[in-house]
Amino acid sequence: MNELLQNYPEEVKQILAKYPAEYKRSAVMPLLYLAQRKEGYVPRQALEDIAEILEMSPTEVASIVGFYTLYYDQPAGRYHIQVCTDLPCALRGADKFLEELCQRLGIREGETTPDGLFTVEAVKCLAACHRAPVFQVQGDGEIEYHENQTVELTLAWMEQVREKVRAEKEAQS
Ligand code: FES
Repeated sequence: MNELLQNYPEEVKQILAKYPAEYKRSAVMPLLYLAQRKEGYVPRQALEDIAEILEMSPTEVASIVGFYTLYYDQPAGRYHIQVCTDLPCALRGADKFLEELCQRLGIREGETTPDGLFTVEAVKCLAACHRAPVFQVQGDGEIEYHENQTVELTLAWMEQVREKVRAEKEAQS
């Protein structure tokens, strides 16, 4: 049973419709993004589902997950805070920003906050070098940029996200 197809029949159809049948392998990236929408990472089953849909091997699909910072192969926080620490950003204090942020959160780079909401990671250039410290956030199927950051600004934003998640939970209960 292809779970991806079963859970997202319309979305898969719409993604495939964007590519000629002979180039359907090109749909691998949007399908991976779709697959990780619910859990925040691409489970093993989804790799096989995508491989089946696109007539690729699961290993080929897995290699794309391994290459791009957009995809995850294991569970992490609902939101990925990806701080650029490439050289131009490092010159504007990105390393120090990342270190202090992790310290205030009581985690190390690559780890997730105890509430399971935020994973903090270092990544390479996000194309906003002149506005460092900069990070992108992936979560809830969206990507958002935060530029000219300070640790205080970031912590305040995280608190807003926590509030939003709390409100969601209350509305569901
Ligand atoms: S080097 Fe950090 S955004 Fe380009």
